[in-house]
Amino acid sequence: MCGIICYVGQKDAKPILIEGLKRLEYRGYDSAGLAVQDGNEISCYRELGKIASLEGLVNGQPMEGTSGIAHTRWATHGEPSVQNAHPQRDQAENVFVIHNGIIENYHLLKKRLEKEGVAFQSETDTEVLAHLISSHFDGDLADAVRKTMGQVEGTFGLGVIHRHAPDQVVVARRGSPLIIGVSDDGHFVASDVSAMVRYTNKVVHLQENELATVTADDFFISTAQAQRIERSTETVEWSAEDVELNGFPHYMLKEIYEQPHTIKNALRGRLEPGEGVPKLGGIMPVWEDLKNCRHMVLVACGTSFYAASVAKYIFEKLTEIDTEVGLASEFRYRKLNFPPNTFMVAISQSGETADTLAAMKEAKRKGARLLGVVNVVGSSISRETDGGIYNHAGPEIGVASTKNFVSQLTTLTLLALLLGRHQNLSLTEGVRAIRALEALPEQVREVLGQASHIEAIAEKYYHCTNWLFLGRKYNYPIALEGALKLKEVSYIHAEGYAAGEMKHGPIALINPEMPTVAVIPKDEMHEKMLSNIHEIKSRKGPVIAIATQGDEKVRDLADDVIEIPHVLDFLTPMLAVIPCQLLAYYCAKFLERDIDKPRNLAKSVTVE
Ligand code: F6R
Repeated sequence: MCGIICYVGQKDAKPILIEGLKRLEYRGYDSAGLAVQDGNEISCYRELGKIASLEGLVNGQPMEGTSGIAHTRWATHGEPSVQNAHPQRDQAENVFVIHNGIIENYHLLKKRLEKEGVAFQSETDTEVLAHLISSHFDGDLADAVRKTMGQVEGTFGLGVIHRHAPDQVVVARRGSPLIIGVSDDGHFVASDVSAMVRYTNKVVHLQENELATVTADDFFISTAQAQRIERSTETVEWSAEDVELNGFPHYMLKEIYEQPHTIKNALRGRLEPGEGVPKLGGIMPVWEDLKNCRHMVLVACGTSFYAASVAKYIFEKLTEIDTEVGLASEFRYRKLNFPPNTFMVAISQSGETADTLAAMKEAKRKGARLLGVVNVVGSSISRETDGGIYNHAGPEIGVASTKNFVSQLTTLTLLALLLGRHQNLSLTEGVRAIRALEALPEQVREVLGQASHIEAIAEKYYHCTNWLFLGRKYNYPIALEGALKLKEVSYIHAEGYAAGEMKHGPIALINPEMPTVAVIPKDEMHEKMLSNIHEIKSRKGPVIAIATQGDEKVRDLADDVIEIPHVLDFLTPMLAVIPCQLLAYYCAKFLERDIDKPRNLAKSVTVE
């Protein structure tokens, strides 16, 4: 979705802002723009389409100045166009505003401003902000922004400059993240750390309803009531290298290959093999209640929801907790009735998904305690919780989530194991699970070793316009995730199904042109999955099987086999998902898709 990068410092702002915009490209956008200030002069350029076009446009232009604001827009109000791109401005072109989020009462405000004689230049909700700030300005930009905050409803992350308030950027937040970056050469503000990690890893998170006046040498945070806030900087663990391609053709492939490392990072410092009990410091604030919890709700969206869906089976296997899983976007429509001491676990890579946040707020209102399994430190979801576990997966730039999925599965397995060991799970089972987790990174590496075999399978089938993915129990969500990955990066239509449902409808689709990816590790579901494959083969459907190494029965039956090492049943999803990710990646490559930035998708979905 939309992205923000601002800079005030000693250096030329234009190249820093363009570089920041490039780092925000992965979030999804349709237009972009920037405004650079030099004393009382502001030069502003906006362009439809890629940042490269904006860069081409500004390269020939004199854009002096060491402060400025820049934005990638993902259209919500008004079509993608130059007029609707940000920065938006007031009539006198004194105020320039960039905005993430949605102003819900913009219609009323716009009507009122029009009655007062304001002529609007765009169809955006953001433009009302520029006019309002302009009308309130009497020399103090922060004060004008504060007064405007009092008039608007909805969500915003804002960056504002004013012709008559040089050398400062005022930023404000309500429901849309903003982070201040501190460096020796000045200050940054971004909606996402990756936009500035090349320059600094010292950050300060702006919190709800706060604003900040940022200058080259300092920043002043205050509340909507003009109360000054002191907040010290934090160090983020992400580095500039994390956001580079490092020789890979796409971030998606890079992130798929990072997965052995991702699992190691999620396990680091958290294993106590002798006791068969993991250590999870982040949940200690709620431990006394959590260890007696008997009802848990896992909520998330998209790929994170499929991680939650696998975790539900793992919780059922390892603990005595009655575990429910819910799509965050559907959650608020339900009549919720939580038994006492219910915990909701919100699972999110970005930590900013609006539906997940809304589900959490609703659950809190109804008395549930909140935990988070989140990748982005300091994100909105992590701040909403009573405790939680960070994934430490590093930045995920490819829009399609890959490494975060295995990271979420790792951390959720640790949580289930910890709770299980305080319930009925034996020492032997605990130790066995920890040993199996420790072996996973090497096993993932083995699966990645088959990439060229998987590429050849993708080459054989990428022309097929419909695919089916099947699995049972732990691997039913892997079928759903495999289908989602293929859809989103290759635009091939794919369906994920619980294999037991085949006879209830989907088997009607089977024909020689429709490949089925069957996830069939050697587990308690093996025989039943074999029957499903028989049924598909008798109807001449091609089968690509993801099976355990040395499974002769599957080799005899399937057209193509991708082997995964032997592992405990409940850990098979972590290995089985890798071939699904690679199949999706290579199909998208053969179809020449925009793999890291699939059409219509955004990395961080901050609107409901
Ligand atoms: C799919 C994908 C999305 C996200 C979903 C939730 O590849 O990336 O389905 O998983 O939007 O996002 P987070 O995990 O950031 O809450």
